[in-house]
Amino acid sequence: MATPSIADLLNLKERVAFVTGAAQGIGRAIAERLGEAGAHVAVADTNQTEAAATVAAIRQAGGSAESVLVDITSSAAVQSGIDNVCTSKGRLDILVNNAGIYPMRTFAESDDALWQKTLDVNVMGTMRCCRAAVPHMQKSGGGTIVNLASIAGLKPEYSHLAHYETSKGAVLMMTRSLAWELRASRIRVNAVAPGGVQTPGARQSIEPLLADPKKLMERSREFMSRIALKRMGEPDDVARAVLFLASPMADYITGATLLVDGGYLLS
Ligand SMILES: NC(=O)c1ccc[n+]([C@@H]2O[C@H](COP(=O)([O-])OP(=O)(O)OC[C@H]3O[C@@H](n4cnc5c(N)ncnc54)[C@H](O)[C@@H]3O)[C@@H](O)[C@H]2O)c1
Repeated sequence: MATPSIADLLNLKERVAFVTGAAQGIGRAIAERLGEAGAHVAVADTNQTEAAATVAAIRQAGGSAESVLVDITSSAAVQSGIDNVCTSKGRLDILVNNAGIYPMRTFAESDDALWQKTLDVNVMGTMRCCRAAVPHMQKSGGGTIVNLASIAGLKPEYSHLAHYETSKGAVLMMTRSLAWELRASRIRVNAVAPGGVQTPGARQSIEPLLADPKKLMERSREFMSRIALKRMGEPDDVARAVLFLASPMADYITGATLLVDGGYLLS
């Protein structure tokens, strides 16, 4: 058998992708890269204004995209969002579970509502999308799922995010569990674990720390000093890793976690 070219391995023409949280930040960059690679991209988000901007950017670059209003905390909304895309496009090949929240609160200040909300979006939301997507992938003979985890799911790095770290640890285990369980359906399941990435959500999450600018500066300096590659991550750094895992480039990879942290966890 002839070895496929790199261009062929990254060509997602005729593929259909569903990306959650694609209205802004990392999800938007992922949607744009998948669109550039030729996939039709369903831009799924609660924020329809920004989702429309993502769709417009993909179309302007010559790609194909649609906006889908989905709150991943609702099983019914996830089911109909994914079913509708599959009905109109006839298939689903790629699911990227990117939507996630990371409200900062110390463990002592956290309450049941904060834990429930974080787990509902980050863990249950990921599970709901997988559950709705898998039968469609099985129908067309396989597919690929990429879950957004975090370095926070591998090592407790922040002292305001136990609820988030717990949720991303669960996402990593779900990735491996599903990779194993879905092997017979030829569905690959992988995760990316970003470090610090400059996004609207990240900027919003540090707002509570703005009250103490000196402490914030100290924390940022300490964070930066630990990044081997000496810069914060950009959404596209993560998008390229997701594109790799979602494409036939990664045909022999399942159950893996790809760190995209500029070497932060080396320290
Ligand atoms: N930014 C970072 O430093 C960083 C680091 C590691 C991991 N991550 C992970 O990457 C993912 C994206 O992060 P980001 O920084 O781009 O976030 P962001 O807040 O900038 O964007 C998140 C998007 O998800 C959408 N969203 C949130 N809740 C939703 C819901 N219930 N249903 C549908 N859409 C919903 C938002 O509307 C938004 O468009 C998250 O899973 C996050 O945990 C981010």
